[in-house]
Amino acid sequence: MARSPLTATVAKALRGKTVLITGGTGSFGRAVLERLRTMDLAQIRIFSRDELKQELMRVELSDPKIQFIIGDVRSRESVDAAMRGVDYVFHAAALKQVPSCEFFPMQAVYTNIIGSHNVVESAIAHGVDRVICLSTDKAVQPVNAMGMTKALMEKVALSAARDPLVGTGRGTPRERRTIVAAVRYGNVMYSRGSVIPLFVSQIRAGRPLTITEPGMTRFLLPLSGAIDLILFAFAHAQPGDIFIRKSPACTVADLAQGTADLLEAPLKVHHIGMRHGEKLYETLASREELRRAQDMGDYWRVRMDGRGLEYAKYFTEGDTGEVEVDDYTSHNTERLDVEGVRRLLLTLPEMRAELALGPAADRGPSPRAARARRNGKAVPASARPTAPARMERVATPDADRPRTAARSAGSRPRARR
Ligand SMILES: NC(=O)c1ccc[n+]([C@@H]2O[C@H](COP(=O)([O-])OP(=O)(O)OC[C@H]3O[C@@H](n4cnc5c(N)ncnc54)[C@H](OP(=O)(O)O)[C@@H]3O)[C@@H](O)[C@H]2O)c1
Repeated sequence: MARSPLTATVAKALRGKTVLITGGTGSFGRAVLERLRTMDLAQIRIFSRDELKQELMRVELSDPKIQFIIGDVRSRESVDAAMRGVDYVFHAAALKQVPSCEFFPMQAVYTNIIGSHNVVESAIAHGVDRVICLSTDKAVQPVNAMGMTKALMEKVALSAARDPLVGTGRGTPRERRTIVAAVRYGNVMYSRGSVIPLFVSQIRAGRPLTITEPGMTRFLLPLSGAIDLILFAFAHAQPGDIFIRKSPACTVADLAQGTADLLEAPLKVHHIGMRHGEKLYETLASREELRRAQDMGDYWRVRMDGRGLEYAKYFTEGDTGEVEVDDYTSHNTERLDVEGVRRLLLTLPEMRAELALGPAADRGPSPRAARARRNGKAVPASARPTAPARMERVATPDADRPRTAARSAGSRPRARR
């Protein structure tokens, strides 16, 4: 299969190298591993706690280039043992469920903050070239312990870029090498514990869909988009960068309707109201960040606030530039309607498997056609595949937007100086 230019660039850089993936048995880890296995790496190390998940993966993949290491990011010793000889790190290990972090916030502190600190410090000590840390939209203006600890993970990780030597090319080879950067993205569609598999199981069981707040919006990113983001960050990272992929969003009501349509089920909903620790909409980048962001097409690069360790610059020197930028939120990004949601859902391998469709690339039959075929009936003309699935976006009516989100994000942030 032809490689995208991005995958080809990364494949060239990774040839003969060793990569460590913390949290490599999770949804992200498995997906990035799939992409990395198409490249010519020397070794890929999977680092996580649970031996059963590792064992299942080891048996399934049976690949001598993949090494499985039991360890815990909370233990610097175990991280150090995994880090020897590593060239690049993708740091995905985390506690990421909002309720569990809310109930046990110190556990989130130990894993998401202290664990990330261990990974970054160990990478620097071992002369690793690059560390890419995975963060989330919930880290921006956080309202729950998960988001708060991921926000601090970003601060802790990126403070390494402020070290006067790290990533600058100065100092001893060990001190100067490591570039630490982060990526931030919103909900990964169909990831473990997310709402789409929940809706699917509720529909299959004939139960009503539990909808929190119909007008609540969320960014929509397929897992393949998250992998592209991390490869893009890998290819372009400078010390302290945060990369963000521009993504469409939809309301929870439209997501429920789109899912029910695809499964050809009538939409029954049970409205439960907003849950503890939830926001009406998520923010991927704050206006303050967007003022120093570089628009890179499908991505933004938020550069580090590069004021170094000079306290005076924090206390006495502000910025007189006029702020003309809004936060980039799931309320003011491009909005998918039900049809757009349906088409995007149809590109997901999990949804295609659920509907017994072929891979997205071959455009496969529509759900109606697949059902007709399964039932041994002729495929109606209206159910034959038409154009390839494409994200269709509709503008958000101004009335639906919060006051702070007047401009359509996705356009270039501007700051008048
Ligand atoms: N999924 C999303 O929607 C989403 C959105 C934005 C950002 N992210 C970020 O992307 C990253 C990966 O998410 P994911 O969806 O792949 O999560 P996931 O499926 O829950 O996987 C988490 C991984 O981390 C490992 N892990 C957890 N605690 C650990 C510890 N203390 N030490 C070592 N390994 C540990 C887990 O394995 P063991 O349990 O065996 O240790 C597992 O391999 C996270 O940082 C998350 O915040 C995810």
